[in-house]
This record gives sequence, C-alpha cells and structure tokens, in this order.
Amino acid sequence: MHSVKIAPSILAADFARLAEDVDRVAAHADMLHVDVMDGHFVPNLSMGPPVITALRRHTDLPFDCHLMMSNADCYLEQLAESGATGVTVHIEAFPEPDDVATAARDLELEFGLVINPPTPFDAVRPFVELCDMVVIMAVHPGFGGQSFIDSVIPKIRAAREFIESQGLGVDIEVDGGITAATAPAARAAGANVFVAGTAVFRQADPAAAMKALRDSIGGAG
Ligand code: DX5
Ligand code: ZN
Repeated sequence: MHSVKIAPSILAADFARLAEDVDRVAAHADMLHVDVMDGHFVPNLSMGPPVITALRRHTDLPFDCHLMMSNADCYLEQLAESGATGVTVHIEAFPEPDDVATAARDLELEFGLVINPPTPFDAVRPFVELCDMVVIMAVHPGFGGQSFIDSVIPKIRAAREFIESQGLGVDIEVDGGITAATAPAARAAGANVFVAGTAVFRQADPAAAMKALRDSIGGAG
C-alpha cells in the first residue's frame, strides 16, 4: 500500500509570517503544497518563484508545486532553480503533456498531472505512466476554503484501480476541501496524498490540526 502523506497548503498560511507558519507544521508534514496561480488559467493570483526561493532557504521539506497556469512549461527552469521538488500541471492546460513531462524530468523535477472536477479520469489515463503523482481536484481550482465535492470520489477510485492494474507506483493526491471529516472517504477510495490548507493553517493550533488529519486517515508519522 502506498504510504500516506500530508501536504499542508501554504495558500492558507499568513503570508506575512510564512516561515513561522511553516515551522508550526513542519514536524508533521511530508511536504509543503505550493499553489502557483497565473490569473489566466484560474481567476486568481498567488505566489511564484521568489516566494519558493525564500522558503527554500528556510526549510528542507519537499515542495509540491501545483501550477494553475496556462504556460507552466515556460517557468519550469525558474521553479527548479528556486527549489521546487516536484511540479504538477493541469491536463486541461496540457492535453498532450508528453513534452512538459519530459522538460520537468530533464530538470530533475518530479512530475504530476492534475484533473479538475468536471474532467474525467479518461483524460489522464493515457499519460499516467509519465507521472509520479495524479492529482484529483476536489474543488474548482483558484481559491482555498471551498467545500469538498463528493462526486470526485468515484474518480479517485477509478484512478487507483487503473494504477494498481498497471502495477504503477503512482501516488494519488487529493486537493481541496480536505478536513478530518472529508479525508477518510478519499483515503478509502485510494488517495494517499492529502493537501489541506484551511483545515490546517486557519485553525488555532495548526500542529494539532495536522495530527487530527493524520489520525483520520490512519497514517503513521
Ligand atoms: C485550490 C488549491 C488548493 C487549496 C486547498 O486552488 O489548489 O491547494 O490551497 O485549500 P483548502 O484546503 O482550503 O481547500
Ligand atoms: Zn493546490
């Protein structure tokens, strides 16, 4: 079974105290989820390479960079230099993702494909072998603090069944609306990487919130 990992999403952190917020959760986090938005693929802006560079000086945690960008391929080199560990790009932006996957690999970045709620698993099925991770969005991308869309659960199951049937060691990340209440169903369907922003950083005790999330999905660590 794939190990359970939790990736707190710094989109929900206090940007004026980013290092302090990261320190609060670092002991309980497997990686940090970094949402990069371009104001074009999604109707919002967030952060990019300068923030990643600054955070990289502060922590050794892997950076899982979720690129909500139409032209993510133009920024891979800058992201790698900044200290990104892995990048995920949207299948809706890169319906033929072979070239962007190769470009990421050439920069020694881990690579993944993200699927929005309306997009069927079939869109990524032919490309799963290119991936370290498939990301199932459980909210419409662009904003934190939205509610988990339950109808993505069968898509998680379909992704896990396909990955197992092919004998691939690909992680399944679920992103959006994850709490200790919503994570168990995603875990049962086969997700093993859990992104959580609001449920961690917008809580009075982010470390306790990480532990509660970990307990809800039965992961060690
Ligand atoms: C949404 C982002 C998510 C977001 C999750 O566009 O991709 O990673 O930070 O935030 P919560 O956990 O608040 O739904
Ligand atoms: Zn994200």
